[in-house]
Formats: sequence, structure tokens, C-alpha cells
Amino acid sequence: MKTWLKPAQRLEKLPPYVFARLDELKLRAKEQGLDLIDLGMGNPDGPTPAPVVEAAISALQNPKNHGYPPFEGTASFRRAITDWYKRRYNVQLDSEGEALPLIGSKEGLGHLAIAYINPGDLVLVPSPAYPAHFRGPLLAGGEIYEMILKPEQDWLIDLSAIPEEIAQRAKVMYFNYPANPTGAIAPREFFEEVVAFAKKYEILLVHDLCYAELAFDGYQPTSLLEIEGGKEVGVEFHTLSKTYNMAGWRVGFVVGNRHIIQGLRTLKTNLDYGIFSAIQVAAETALQLPDKYLEEVCDRYKERRDFLIAGLGELGWEIPKTYATMYLWIPVPVGMTSADFALKVLESTGVVFTPGSAFGQGGEGYVRISLIADCDRLGEALNRLKQAGIRYK
Ligand SMILES: Cc1ncc(COP(=O)(O)O)c(C=O)c1O
Repeated sequence: MKTWLKPAQRLEKLPPYVFARLDELKLRAKEQGLDLIDLGMGNPDGPTPAPVVEAAISALQNPKNHGYPPFEGTASFRRAITDWYKRRYNVQLDSEGEALPLIGSKEGLGHLAIAYINPGDLVLVPSPAYPAHFRGPLLAGGEIYEMILKPEQDWLIDLSAIPEEIAQRAKVMYFNYPANPTGAIAPREFFEEVVAFAKKYEILLVHDLCYAELAFDGYQPTSLLEIEGGKEVGVEFHTLSKTYNMAGWRVGFVVGNRHIIQGLRTLKTNLDYGIFSAIQVAAETALQLPDKYLEEVCDRYKERRDFLIAGLGELGWEIPKTYATMYLWIPVPVGMTSADFALKVLESTGVVFTPGSAFGQGGEGYVRISLIADCDRLGEALNRLKQAGIRYK
């Protein structure tokens, strides 16, 4: 290829796209009119709550919202964020500097990497992880140290397994509990250990609390900012995509250390104009919804979780109950890779699972199932697996 047509070298650092063959098969199945049951993406299937849509409609009709939004987000959305933090976690934040709206948390996670990671900087990333946690640092030229997660440690990061020289060199650490893709949760003591580790080695902590609200059976996810010293060393990312079925609206936020947020803000003022103000009004409304709405959302995912765990149990899978997220993380039958298994399932049943290898080498041997269909559709998916003779053992 002519050199001027070649993308920048940083794109070459990205690992190959695991979904290519899966996407091709999905497309072909759709063209043939096959009824795909796509449990691949973490794209919630429910509608955005009516009060949020109504708030957006009236905000759209107000010409005041039609111009460029303020770079740092509207003051009133920032206040809604800090009020929400106070209500949920009893954490007091300054809406001037400790909260920044984002065009979805993926945007912020990626841009934070560009703002903070220099070529050659060492970045600690769990494996498996949500891809933006390693793709952002790779684009920034960082060197990744994969913290391999293991089922026997309940998919929790083992800080004691990180070699001393790696900890000394590390600049940033990404982590995410409740976790995508494993559905794992972390006890409060784990967060305390991470903060102590970050302080000892002077590591910037990036906690992704994407699944802050999707928790079941009385479990309450922990915020990094609830932990003493957490705000000194880190930031925490949130999204409205999952809890409020707003994935297409592109809105999230980051909170925490004001210096870290300032760096991200400086980068963003050079790259984007922030979120459409009408969407910020809608997001503000979402954060103020009564708890009853949340209970309904969680009950829906919980019902699906129980239904699928029981159904997969009949096919030989013994899956531990998850306490949060919208995912099940299941081992693939012995002798197959996660991509082989996902392809086989798609070809023989039209059901889409995500191969674990898409989340890093630590995800090999597993597939992720998103609970983004109602129990009737999940039942249909289970029937198809049964008819195709697909079992764990
Ligand atoms: C852990 C995690 N972080 C961030 C995101 C992206 O969220 P957003 O829609 O706000 O970009 C996802 C989406 O699946 C996720 O699982």
C-alpha cells in the first residue's frame, strides 16, 4: 500500500478484531432471513424510561439547547451527577472540577489513555477486560501488563502476583467491578487494597463502575470514591447506557481526582464539543428517577439470569450465581477455543455469544452471554442449543 494511504502506526498496535468471522456469519444469516438471537453485545433491549424521553423532547424544543454545549458539560447535569453520588454513596464531590460529562464512558476511557499515557508507559490491565481498557492504552503507545484473572480467585485481580519491578514501573491501572465480561464482584476490602497499592507505587487508578446499579439479591457495588484515599489516586467512570437503557444516546461521566479530570478535559476541549445539551437534560432526569425504576430494571435482569442459569444447567453447565451486571460467563466445552465454540453455536443455532478471547488472553476458554432478551427468547435460544446437541459435557 502507498505509504500516504497507510494509517498511523498506533493503529497497527491493536490486536486483531476477533469478531470479523462472527460478523460475517451474522450478516449472512440476516441476509438469508434467519431469526438470529443476538446475545453478543451489551446493548440493553428495553426502552429508555418515558420521563427521560419526555425531558429530551421538551429540551429539544428549546432553542437555548441548540448551540454548542459548554466544554465541561452543563452546570445542572454536573450538579445532578454530584447529587446522585451523595445519594448513592454518601460521597461529597465538587461539581466544579470533580465531575465531567462524557460522550459515553467509552469515549472518556479512551481519551483518558491518550491524556495520561506516554509511549512506553506501563499500564496494568485485567485480562479479561472490557476492550476499551486495553485498546485505549495501546493506541496511546502504552505497554500493557495483563493481570490474568482466574476462576479460582473469583476473577478478582491478584495484586500479590504483580512482580515488584512491574508495580514500580506501572503508571496507570484499569479495573472494573462489577466486571464485564465475567460478572464478578469485588468486596470492599479489595478496593482498600487497591488504593493502598496505588498509593505505595504511585499509580493512577481508573475504575470503571459501568454496572453501578445492575446488582441483585441485596448486593450493593462499591465506589472507589467511598474508600479513604480513593479520590487522591483515581477517577471513576459511569455510563447511563446500561441502567437507563440509553446506549444510543451516548452519555456517561467521570468523577474523582480533579487534576486527573482536568487533564482529560484539556484533551477533550481539543477534540470534541461534549454532549448535545438536550441529552444532558435527559441524563439529568434519568439520574433523578425514583428507585422503583431501578428495582424494575434489576428484577428483569435477575429473572433472566435465573432462567438462563437453570436452563444451561440442564445442558451440563454449572454456573455460579452472579450478583451484578447483565452477563453470564460460561466455560466452553473442553478442546474448543472460545472463537470456535461461538462460531459453532452461531452456525448451528443462530444464537450469538461473544468469544472470551475478545476480552484478552485471560478470556480464552469462555464465552459471554448478554441477558438482553426476554425469557421467551432465552428459552428459544436454549431449545435451539438442545436440538443442535450443544452441551458443556
Ligand atoms: C465495563 C464497560 N465500560 C464502559 C462501557 C461503555 O459504555 P458507554 O456506552 O457509556 O460508552 C461498557 C459497555 O459495554 C462496559 O461494559
